[in-house]
Amino acid sequence: MAETLTFNPSDDRRTRYAELLPQLRGLVQGEPNRVANLANLAAALRQSFGFFWVGFYSVQDDQLVLGPFQGDIACTRIDYGQGVCGAAWAEATSQWVPDVDAFPGHIACSSLARSEVVVPVMVDDEVVAVLDVDSDQLDAFTEADIEGLQSVAQLCAEIWSATT
Ligand code: SME
Repeated sequence: MAETLTFNPSDDRRTRYAELLPQLRGLVQGEPNRVANLANLAAALRQSFGFFWVGFYSVQDDQLVLGPFQGDIACTRIDYGQGVCGAAWAEATSQWVPDVDAFPGHIACSSLARSEVVVPVMVDDEVVAVLDVDSDQLDAFTEADIEGLQSVAQLCAEIWSATT
């Protein structure tokens, strides 16, 4: 397992995601524990981009339940279709929210969060979890973040299938 992440902070975001992805693969390679791997992915994303909050919610019956994360304490359960995370689950599509106050039903785990991206983790056409990333800045995310985080979610789906 790689113990450090290397990237050039002066590179643009798209390049940094491209630099990061193979390192994330290295980070999880050979580790059969799902929680351990998702915990390290959350930490790596926060460490690389300085996001306010990064974490996973997994589908358990009719709710999303908080999983590994980095950041302030957060809501533990989210109902189907509720908030940004529940919308990503119900619609099985990424949610890009430049201003959380403008998103009907946004769940404010922290009053400091201002913008948010949630990407579903899909296994066999089913949402098994969501990757949630929050910023304390308005409109902090770009197309490069959406695409980069979708690539990370794809890696999570591979991890999901290969771990318990
Ligand atoms: N804001 C999310 C809730 C989770 S926290 O941001 C960690 C939502 O509206 O679903």
